[in-house]
Amino acid sequence: MGKGYGYGKVILFNEHFVVYGIPAIASAIDKKTVAEVKKCKGKDFIIHDNRDATPGYKEEKLEQQKESIIRIKKAMGIEDCIEIWLHGDLKAASGIGASAASCAAIAKAIADEFGMNLSDEEINEIAYEGEKAYHGNPSGIDNTCAVFGGLVWFIKGKGMERLKIEKPVEIVMGDTGIVANTKKAVAGVRERKERYKEKYDKIFKEAEKLAYEARNALLEMDWKSVGELMNKNHKLLQEIEVSCKELDFLVEVALENGAYGAKMTGGGLGGYMVALTPGKELQEKVAKAIEKEGFYALRTKIGI
Ligand code: PMV
Repeated sequence: MGKGYGYGKVILFNEHFVVYGIPAIASAIDKKTVAEVKKCKGKDFIIHDNRDATPGYKEEKLEQQKESIIRIKKAMGIEDCIEIWLHGDLKAASGIGASAASCAAIAKAIADEFGMNLSDEEINEIAYEGEKAYHGNPSGIDNTCAVFGGLVWFIKGKGMERLKIEKPVEIVMGDTGIVANTKKAVAGVRERKERYKEKYDKIFKEAEKLAYEARNALLEMDWKSVGELMNKNHKLLQEIEVSCKELDFLVEVALENGAYGAKMTGGGLGGYMVALTPGKELQEKVAKAIEKEGFYALRTKIGI
């Protein structure tokens, strides 16, 4: 039996903008998807998806998941049938890198089962192939976090740079419970970007400037500034129409309860938001406020 894992992630700055070469900042979180793989008799693969998930997520993603496994097998040159088990403490939902975490975990587990000695870079490339089934033309930020972990500065096509902070910091991730389609969200931005060129060019310039400011604030662990920049980033994401009323509501709840900053995270149109909540006490306060409104709140950290 081969075994592998992949981290979940949170995009702190510039999801969507990253697709067009603008720098983004993301971090792995301390939640993982674990895959186990065994050679078996039959055709292609058998999957047992035992991950905890937002209701409807697995059904909605089933076809993409199947295509993703076929892509991973092809990229690894595996023709045998394989049986796959997925589990772990990362709840499968939109916006938390669940698909990338599973691609990384499956690629590592296959490599382990077939005795392939692959580097993390090679695993990352294979996970990227798998991600294409979910995203169409992914930036690669999700699989990079899933494979390598840590806090990363990412530019599409150029790869990642690790950002080191002295100590992990608490965040809360609130789940709208809406299963979102990243492919559709990305396509929508592309269409509007062409239609409203001038407006979008201006927003994209602001996002680029914000990335460099956020990088400095993070490295200085200046949480007040990081929070303010997250709020600004959320506004830009609202302007390109990838937020939704449930995400905006959870952002408001987090800010009203003392979060330093809050924004949607990932593809948007549902899925997760993230709030910066340094210290256990503030984290608990914000998480409880989100739960009181009837939403799932994940307490985790960035910079692990
Ligand atoms: O929805 P998620 O968690 O898979 O994140 C998607 C991030 C995007 O920037 C919208 C797309 C991408 O490929 O980077």
